Amino acid sequence: MSEVVSYAREGQVGVITVNYPPVNALSHAVRSGLLDALRQGQTDDEAKALLLVCKGRTFVAGADIREFGKPMQEPGLPSVIDAFENSQKPVIAALHGTALGGGLELALGCHYRVALSTAQVGLPEVKLGLLPGAGGTQRLPRLSGTQKALEMITTGNFVSADEAREYGIVDATEEGSSIATIGRAYAEKAINESWPTRRVRDLTDKLEADKNSGVFDEFRANLQKRARNLFSPFKCVDAVEAAFKLSFEDGLQRERELFMECMESPQRAGLVHAFFAERGVSKVPGLSPDTPIRDINRVGIIGAGTMGGGIAMNFANVGIPVRLLEAKQDALDRGLAVIRRNYENTAKKGRITTAQVEERMALIEPTLNYSDLGDVDLVIEAVFEDMGIKKQIFGQLDKVCKPGAILASNTSTLDIDEIASATQRPQDVVGMHFFSPANVMKLLENVRGEKTADDVKATVMALAKRIKKVGVLVGNCYGFVGNRMLHRRGAEAMELVNDGATPQQVDKVLTDFGFPMGQFAMSDLAGIDVGYRIRQERRKAGEDIPPSWADKLAEQGRLGQKTQAGIYRYEEGSRKPIPDPEVDALINAFRQEQGIASREISDQEILERCLYVMINEGAKILEGGVAARPLDIDITWIYGYGFPAYRGGPMFWADQEGLDKVLAGIRQFHERLGGEQWQPAALLERLVKEGKRFGDL
Ligand code: 3HC
Repeated sequence: MSEVVSYAREGQVGVITVNYPPVNALSHAVRSGLLDALRQGQTDDEAKALLLVCKGRTFVAGADIREFGKPMQEPGLPSVIDAFENSQKPVIAALHGTALGGGLELALGCHYRVALSTAQVGLPEVKLGLLPGAGGTQRLPRLSGTQKALEMITTGNFVSADEAREYGIVDATEEGSSIATIGRAYAEKAINESWPTRRVRDLTDKLEADKNSGVFDEFRANLQKRARNLFSPFKCVDAVEAAFKLSFEDGLQRERELFMECMESPQRAGLVHAFFAERGVSKVPGLSPDTPIRDINRVGIIGAGTMGGGIAMNFANVGIPVRLLEAKQDALDRGLAVIRRNYENTAKKGRITTAQVEERMALIEPTLNYSDLGDVDLVIEAVFEDMGIKKQIFGQLDKVCKPGAILASNTSTLDIDEIASATQRPQDVVGMHFFSPANVMKLLENVRGEKTADDVKATVMALAKRIKKVGVLVGNCYGFVGNRMLHRRGAEAMELVNDGATPQQVDKVLTDFGFPMGQFAMSDLAGIDVGYRIRQERRKAGEDIPPSWADKLAEQGRLGQKTQAGIYRYEEGSRKPIPDPEVDALINAFRQEQGIASREISDQEILERCLYVMINEGAKILEGGVAARPLDIDITWIYGYGFPAYRGGPMFWADQEGLDKVLAGIRQFHERLGGEQWQPAALLERLVKEGKRFGDL
């Protein structure tokens, strides 16, 4: 008997138990173990029914993703499921935790399903660039009907046990603590009542009922809007459609072909990389997983502006009380009103109840006094980017906060060590850089200072998970990982326009690549005055910052979305950027004034200059140890800036492009355009020389 799957008889029930932590994924050992155990159950004359149950925190959570891209070892999952479905004795699957992907498909191959009321089921393959490849697209619609099956398969979203019961995906849900006990009772019932071996493949009522609906065309049209650039959601629809058009066997065959197309797609590789990278970022090199974590039971936030308010919401959402501090009463009132409005909008969409709005608001306590921060475990400063003000605030915090409180800054660019120098406790100071809108964006860029204590680093990383963010720990430098690369891309985008591209051409190349928004639309969102103010400060400090056409926009009061005009223009109440001939004229005039000869710029050049400049900077970030691994950069960009996850993040994308090609491009731009940003990173040169990729680091 395999170590990961066991067979034992309890009374008249033959119990097949999977025990393959952490999530009972269907590795080769599990698949062969399942077949062995099933055979044993079949030949055990005393067993009248079989029960499939899992140990640990969950039922099978899917195929073993680590085996993707490697040669497939028999038995394959479809044949295991086939054997379960063809069992002569009824097989009952007992679900707890999350029955996902191949795990749910295995359960659908059983004759009955009982679930713990807290369980969830889903077919999340699409999130990995795949489709359910072990009968899910053929069996699920036979149980749930087409609409629900398409919804679940194309979004990958989980449904609760109760909802699954409503849709016929599970037969019963039970309260309780032991899934093994619940499963056994259910199997005994099946024996006592002589339930037949009911095979899902034979159920056709729901298929018949949905036969002539226009649901497939409707779904495809919908996907054009929400999943335009993606490959696998469309294949999911094709596969479900096959359940209607073809026999079960032929439908399975078609599903397999489509599954293999997805498996071989670069999007699958990108999404699987992103899956593991997201889990990798929490394992920080050099920081022991046993590092103690400080208790965070109350948080103080300084600044009730857009950022501070959004940050406060993150904590209130998970039940952590917040003291929100502002300098003036009216700013505090305004901030609280915005928070309330945000919550009420969420309630209107039905995502939270009105009672929850009040509960969360009650957790946010406004204050004007620093002395109210004396008992908080963590303070996050979220005032605007001014070193003088930040240092003053940290000096103040040093006086009022209790020993051991973590003092964090939400700065997006400034030097954490300099901020820490304003205190007597630099070991407690850290950066916690949230992304706007802070209650929505999943990234939390945690910045370690020179003296930040290990338990502080571990605490802010653990806190990211607690508030449902993805935390990445990075080093201290101007702009850290995310904004340092963004500034390079932003400057290059400006240069491209100087050279002859239009802002809308640059943005279109970026959105076609998969970014939700182009560089210039993003500048309009952030405010044209932000960059302008920074440039003016640097000019005042004597830096040689060349004039730019964006300065002229700012000087004309075209500050972006907030003034309904920036690089684009905006109609009343709309966020849709509309190209503006006035801006084209302004750019032309600027080129003439500066004596720049404009030329036609190809989309290819735009893409290469915008992305290669980021990758070169990313390599320098790795060289300097600001990011520990390429995957930290990838996750920063996927969750902070909407880099398309199906391309795996900038560093993974560079590997896919071929580092030799990327380096050749960088060298060529260096020669043609000059500038420090195009000076090839030594790390990139070394990797190319050694025939390696970022993924090999
Ligand atoms: N295969 C291999 N490893 C897996 C895995 C899988 N399917 N699912 C999770 N893991 C690993 C994670 O990498 C992580 O490993 P680590 O501890 O070394 O980092 C560990 O299990 C725990 O995972 P999480 O940290 O994500 O734990 P959570 O409790 O937060 O979440 C989960 C659990 C909801 C199961 C989540 O891991 C998840 O969504 N997993 C993916 C599920 C999935 O996509 N299944 C479909 C796979 S494709 C498929 O089945 C194809 C089939 O149709 C043929």
